[in-house]
Amino acid sequence: MSRSRIWSMLAVPAVALLVAAQPLVAQTQHADAAGKPAAAATDDKVARGRYIVEEVAMCGRCHSPVDQHGNRDTTHWLQGGAVGLAPTVATDNWAIVAPRLAGTPPGTDEQFMHLLMTGESRNNGRPLRQPMPQFRMSRADAEAVLAYLKSLGTHQGGTN
Ligand code: HEC
Repeated sequence: MSRSRIWSMLAVPAVALLVAAQPLVAQTQHADAAGKPAAAATDDKVARGRYIVEEVAMCGRCHSPVDQHGNRDTTHWLQGGAVGLAPTVATDNWAIVAPRLAGTPPGTDEQFMHLLMTGESRNNGRPLRQPMPQFRMSRADAEAVLAYLKSLGTHQGGTN
């Protein structure tokens, strides 16, 4: 028997073994994801919420107070205060204060979710005053934001 024939006899079962092993690997990964402890899943949600709040939607830009130098007071993170922004055109539809979000945001959980998913407030579904943006988040993102805000707990200070 030639040397190359021996190699091909060995190679075929090896490939067959590899192919057969694929579903096993996939199953093992699936089991890992499904069997993940609830605490880890909650951590993921809070981390995603933190990312959206701090890096994407920048809620702290308005919902954290400004100190006397005009800088965001990070020791009162998301505890509400003066928005520190003025309109460039005359409007009576402008809020100068943004409420506390850390711990327990205003309204019920469902009202909060509805606001972030539709831009409609608990005030008869009307949009909030500017400069509050009208978000259109997915339910999963809104839930993550709420989980992050709740994880901050309530501290002293803030405006509401
Ligand atoms: C550019 C400024 C700005 C940003 C950014 C911003 N907000 Fe606001 N937000 C406001 C202002 C101002 C108000 C008060 C509006 C009013 O009184 O009509 C407000 C009000 C709210 C309220 C109160 C709703 C109620 O029913 O009383 C919630 C909840 C809220 N914001 C959540 C958020 C979240 C969560 C984010 C980030 C995902 C965010 N906001 C980003 C300015 C902002």
